[in-house]
Amino acid sequence: MNLRTDIVLGSLAAILAVGFAAAQSTPRVGSGDVVADRQRLMKLNGASWADMQAKAKAGSIEAIAVNAETIALNAMHIPLLFPQGSLTDKSKARPEIWERRAEFESAAKNLQAQAEKLRDTARAKDAAGTQELVMSFGKQTCGKCHTPKGDGSRFGPHFRSLD
Ligand code: HEC
Repeated sequence: MNLRTDIVLGSLAAILAVGFAAAQSTPRVGSGDVVADRQRLMKLNGASWADMQAKAKAGSIEAIAVNAETIALNAMHIPLLFPQGSLTDKSKARPEIWERRAEFESAAKNLQAQAEKLRDTARAKDAAGTQELVMSFGKQTCGKCHTPKGDGSRFGPHFRSLD
């Protein structure tokens, strides 16, 4: 066996070892700090929403699609980022999330669906339709978790701007 074959076989063994290690541990996305990850995701929602409103004001309709798609993809990850027992003192989440889980998850689904609708309307360069959706977006989507409900409860921090 010459040196070259040795190197090739060596790398093959290394690849196989990595492959086995990956197969044994369940694949997982995230930093390991679920509260930090979800706050990061929500900050991106806030920035995307602000950017979207600025673009609507400037009449940059098609450019809104990327913000809407960011929010839609974020929304898909919301349920996974709120596992049972993750209400730490750093979190601004409310215990209602785990008491009314179905409602919480449907608010996330609604956010995704509305964001996808806005994305498609923006991509189609429908200016009037996009402006109309942007106008009601905050209240109809983010507001489902961030404004007090009739019974006084909510899922996340209260933002007066969404009332
Ligand atoms: C399904 C419920 C839900 C929806 C919908 C939702 N949020 Fe949140 N949001 C939360 C919860 C819960 C927290 C608190 C997370 C924590 O601290 O653990 C939060 C936190 C935040 C924060 C604070 C992040 C930080 O730590 O500084 C911002 C900003 C935010 N959301 C913006 C938005 C915007 C903008 C939208 C709409 C595009 C939105 N959220 C939609 C539930 C939601």
